[in-house]
Amino acid sequence: MRELALHVLDILQNTVEAGATRATLTIHEDVPADWLTITVADNGRGMDAATVARVTNPFYTTRTTRHVGLGLPLYAMAAEQAGGRLRIASQPGVGTTVEAMFQLSHPDRQPLGDMAGTLLAFLLSARTPELRYEHRLRQGSAPGDDQTFEFDTADIRAELGDVPFSHPAVVQWLAEYLEEGENVLRSA
Ligand SMILES: Nc1ncnc2c1ncn2[C@@H]1O[C@H](COP(=O)(O)OP(=O)(O)O)[C@@H](O)[C@H]1O
Ligand SMILES: [Mg+2]
Repeated sequence: MRELALHVLDILQNTVEAGATRATLTIHEDVPADWLTITVADNGRGMDAATVARVTNPFYTTRTTRHVGLGLPLYAMAAEQAGGRLRIASQPGVGTTVEAMFQLSHPDRQPLGDMAGTLLAFLLSARTPELRYEHRLRQGSAPGDDQTFEFDTADIRAELGDVPFSHPAVVQWLAEYLEEGENVLRSA
């Protein structure tokens, strides 16, 4: 994978497999501190300590279909090659938090890539938990150098009433809303 957004899509899909009803995705780009932190937290089934210790091994998966589990090992590698690391905190029956840190300016850091595309793909897939998203960009150390794009799918769903995310007009609106939200961060 050459962009972090694709790793994030994989990590978000794990929240679905874990049966989560709520998830949060937080992206924090801190330019002065030179760190990028991406955190995915869910209230899914969680993992015991032994499983957590095993999941960054590329041959570990609890899925019975398709390939061996590669989402977490590849994500950990992407973080480590950018001077960062992956940290997983999990508790059975409570949930899981996967936090990845990257040195922002590291020459081997993958670009964030198409986060709007990842969010749209996730929101339109089946059995997705409600998602709270926050993307914060801190460009400098003065107050006002912070830009944030955030939303909660529960709020959007409340606005839409009975109209599903998959309705063509909603898909179009969501695509533009996510694209614009991400672009505004960049143009600030
Ligand atoms: N959010 C999560 N909640 C509970 N278990 C998880 C979570 N993320 C990953 N896992 C466990 O770690 C395993 C490996 O995950 P991953 O590397 O993404 O590969 P895959 O999803 O293909 O199995 C999963 O099969 C699952 O058992
Ligand atoms: Mg996975």
